[in-house]
Amino acid sequence: MSAMQSANLPSADFQSEGDLNTSPHRASWSAEHIDAETRHWLDEDAKYFLHQSLSTPCLNVLKGCRGATIEDLSGRKLLDFHGNNVHQVGFSHPRVIEAITGQIKELSFCTRRYTNIPAIQLAKKLAELAPGNLMRVLFAPGGTSAIGMAIKLARAATGRFKTISMWDSFHGASLDAISVGGEAIFRSGIGPLLPGCEHVPPPDNRHCPFKCGAACNLSCADYIEYVLDKEGDVAAVVAETVRSTPFIPPRDYWKKVRAACDRHGALLILDEIPHCLGRTGKMFTCEHYEVVPDLLIIGKGLGGGIFPLAALIARENLNGGMADKALGHYTHEKNPVACASGLAAIEVIESEGLLENARVMGEYAFGRMLDMMNAHRLIGDVRGLGLLMGMELVRDPTTNERATDEAEQVMYRALSKGLNFKVTMGNILTLTPALTITRPEMDRAIDILSESLTEVERR
Ligand SMILES: Cc1ncc(COP(=O)(O)O)c(C=O)c1O
Repeated sequence: MSAMQSANLPSADFQSEGDLNTSPHRASWSAEHIDAETRHWLDEDAKYFLHQSLSTPCLNVLKGCRGATIEDLSGRKLLDFHGNNVHQVGFSHPRVIEAITGQIKELSFCTRRYTNIPAIQLAKKLAELAPGNLMRVLFAPGGTSAIGMAIKLARAATGRFKTISMWDSFHGASLDAISVGGEAIFRSGIGPLLPGCEHVPPPDNRHCPFKCGAACNLSCADYIEYVLDKEGDVAAVVAETVRSTPFIPPRDYWKKVRAACDRHGALLILDEIPHCLGRTGKMFTCEHYEVVPDLLIIGKGLGGGIFPLAALIARENLNGGMADKALGHYTHEKNPVACASGLAAIEVIESEGLLENARVMGEYAFGRMLDMMNAHRLIGDVRGLGLLMGMELVRDPTTNERATDEAEQVMYRALSKGLNFKVTMGNILTLTPALTITRPEMDRAIDILSESLTEVERR
């Protein structure tokens, strides 16, 4: 999709995954902040990379990342409340770097048909950590590939091919992942997608087609059962336990969906790629809902924020009957360096009490964000689970009309003051800091947000 086309598209639908890089606010931010050397490298980037939505034209050039911050070429430091959700242990954690460099010197790659100790140890650790009888692991070099393996496994295990997934969801960018995904920016104009991929509304009470109002009344969960029943032969329900935006389903939502899947012989595949290993204050988000999926997909920070690494963790009983199926077979499926990095990251999460920090800092930030609602007319809603936080900006609280332009202005103003985050669904400031974040860093970020909102509200 060209920049020209995307500029004419309905904004919130096409901005579900992130801001689009082509607005006048971007242009004026760049004119003010990008120096000559950075401009040179941005031009080189634009010259040699194939242009695509969401990632081009690039915002800025980075030269460093450490802890909760990133540093641009001109030495400006920003608290990174996006980090693509890879920075559970912060960027460049010394323990992770030490594990990587040590492993590179010993065994840097594992040829197929061989295994290696870091890969076995990481699979064992994940089987121990994951809830219930989730204990069979397959690694992949990225979340999208792990989702692909899960869909194949669900098809093979059930002998069915249909899926039910959510509008506005994201499961990766490959054809199979966008078929179950629900974002227009990935799905539109790309030709036929996988057959049998049914979509249902996500548990987003503020924009719910069932009009449940201030609180979700689980009509959307009932509707999943309705579709399971009508279709009759669905292989799996595929969903993000909590959408990154975030949409946080009510407590009973997943229990209801789990029970419906069981009644209809469908597997439950939960995608926790961005939030696994602690972002929500628990190792896995499904633990908040006391539900065990049949397949749990994790990734992002699993590689310690340095290596691309994802995993499918399946119920023990799904292991049988797969020996003649090639589900993954990826070149880097047991990469020893990625696995050493992942093991070190989990060790850091445990030894530095990062789950606890996510809970405490998340609660603190949520309290401050709630207070901000009294002072800022643009804030329609704040929500969060641990350090997965969202602030929804609306023009009118009675209609929830999305304040898309205002959200983008707030984002660029915050960027100028030293805070990086992304906007999803066009109007939701999505805030996901490193789990190592300190109280002074959190205070600084929230002060910046508040100042930026005040400036935009005054206009
Ligand atoms: C919920 C979710 N699923 C899947 C993916 C795809 O993961 P990857 O980019 O590692 O392929 C992402 C990436 O942002 C994600 O957020």
